[in-house]
Amino acid sequence: MCGIMGYSGARPPLPILLSGLERLEYRGYDSSGVAFFDDSDEIHVIRTTGKISALKDRVGKEEGHPGSAIGHIRWATHGAATVQNAHPHQSGPIVLVHNGIVENEQALKEELRREGVRFDSDTDTEVLAHLVSSAYRAGSDFPSSVQAALSRVEGSYALAIISRDHPSDLVVVRQGAPLLIGVGEGEAFAASDIPAFLHFTRQVYSMKNGEIAFIRHGSVKVGKLLDPPSEWKTPEFSTVSWDPFFAEKGTYRHFMEKEIFEGSRAVMDTFSGRIVGDRALPELLEALGERPGSITMVACGTSWHAALLGRLFIEAATGIPVSVEIASEFRYRPILSSREGWIVGISQSGETADTLGAIEAARKTGYKTLGITNVPGSTMERESGACLLTHAGPEIGVASTKAFQAQVAILLLMSLALSPGHVSMERIESLLRVPVRLESFLESMVSERFDPVIDRIRQSTLVLFAGRGLDYPLSLEGALKFKEITYRPADGYPSGELKHGPIALVEPGVTIVAPMIDSSLRTKEVSNLREIRARGGYVIALGPDIEESQRGVWYDDKVDLPHESASTGIFQAAAVLQYLAYRVAVMLGNDVDQPRNLAKSVTVE
Ligand code: G6P
Repeated sequence: MCGIMGYSGARPPLPILLSGLERLEYRGYDSSGVAFFDDSDEIHVIRTTGKISALKDRVGKEEGHPGSAIGHIRWATHGAATVQNAHPHQSGPIVLVHNGIVENEQALKEELRREGVRFDSDTDTEVLAHLVSSAYRAGSDFPSSVQAALSRVEGSYALAIISRDHPSDLVVVRQGAPLLIGVGEGEAFAASDIPAFLHFTRQVYSMKNGEIAFIRHGSVKVGKLLDPPSEWKTPEFSTVSWDPFFAEKGTYRHFMEKEIFEGSRAVMDTFSGRIVGDRALPELLEALGERPGSITMVACGTSWHAALLGRLFIEAATGIPVSVEIASEFRYRPILSSREGWIVGISQSGETADTLGAIEAARKTGYKTLGITNVPGSTMERESGACLLTHAGPEIGVASTKAFQAQVAILLLMSLALSPGHVSMERIESLLRVPVRLESFLESMVSERFDPVIDRIRQSTLVLFAGRGLDYPLSLEGALKFKEITYRPADGYPSGELKHGPIALVEPGVTIVAPMIDSSLRTKEVSNLREIRARGGYVIALGPDIEESQRGVWYDDKVDLPHESASTGIFQAAAVLQYLAYRVAVMLGNDVDQPRNLAKSVTVE
């Protein structure tokens, strides 16, 4: 949902901004732009449609004059992806970039029009540029004019702003959209996400909602939007442990491919240090007190699928009833108060607006709040009563892969943590073996192994993913991955539901991919698959112990998984489903890391 970046320091800023924006490209790629000073302290704005590569072409050899500069990568909300709507937006001496939404845009626009302002774009952001500019021209200093303007604005925003009269200065603000500041030797960076400046510094301050910062080279002062600049203080920076290597493709062709193969490391790092003796996640009950009477999980997209798996683990291990809700629906329903209940939000980014909104709505009715996120310093981490971090490292590919594996891992740990009795060492040891088993499975996941089924899937008119029990959330996730990056028709179903409608779609040319990890339900699953084959559907079974003798009986082709515990099987099956979608999308020539119309972090409703 748009990425912003700002720089102030003694180096030419454009190479820094362009490399940072490239790492933020997962947030949007409809258009992009930069604003910087030249040797005569004049501001230049370069904007273009399309990806950062197009912006790089436009920028050419220009490096910009040392001092401050800002950049933006856009996921269009207000107005089409045109050059005019691309950021930065300028009004007189003020130039800014914005991630978020101005909710009272119309009222402010009408007022500004009455004052004679002409709008050059369809964006809500341009309103902000005019408001700051008019406060500045009325005599406020640069940071105070930003404060004055924002006192009139409703909505969410992360902003980076420069002023023609102050070539070294950068003002940044956070209200409802993420913004982090990194500080180095005589220079500072601000960005929507850490990887944008991880190559330059690991000293990071995660801004809080309602905070504004004034940055001049390595000096950073932070205060509340309502406090006078004289009261702003240098914040405490902390060192992030993320390895910059995570944000590089290395020898892989795409981030998504790399991240699929990092799944075992994500699980390993998420488990690491989380089991002490026969107890998992001891910090959980320390933070939230008693075991809950019930749990409601809220999430969107892939994280919602992880939550569906989590429900199965937790209910089976603990007897605590768990409901799983789509955040955007749950938050607008009457929420029945539950004093003993926990609301658990799951979000890779920790910034998904609907998930944060759902947690907040439940908190108001008395729920204790727990966040599960992959991003340290995210809004979810800061604003939940307790937070469990997954340790997948930065995920760059828009389609979530290793972060899903890490979410599943932490939910398995949570099921142990909330178990009423003693957890057997056998269970713990079996869990601790998962990352190693997954690692060796990933090593064997060479492309040729999948060629025949990939070919078949590619030629299918429709691909359905269907399973029971643990295999149902896996089917939903397999279908989502497939839709996201291949743009081909696909859907996921509980296999028992196929005969209540979807089976009408089945005819020759339709393929059903059936994950079969849940051995307790295999007989029933096999019956459902027979029904599909009887109607001309082509069945690809994915699981352990699928007998060759049954080929042509209830399945047509198969992907074998090793005979392992169900816990290990879930991760292996998820990796295969991710990889199948990846390979088909690559064959189709699609932009795998940045699929059309999507953004990695959805910070608008
Ligand atoms: C977007 C992404 C999905 C992701 C979903 C939830 O739609 O494209 O990959 O699953 O948001 O994101 P979150 O950061 O909350 O897990």
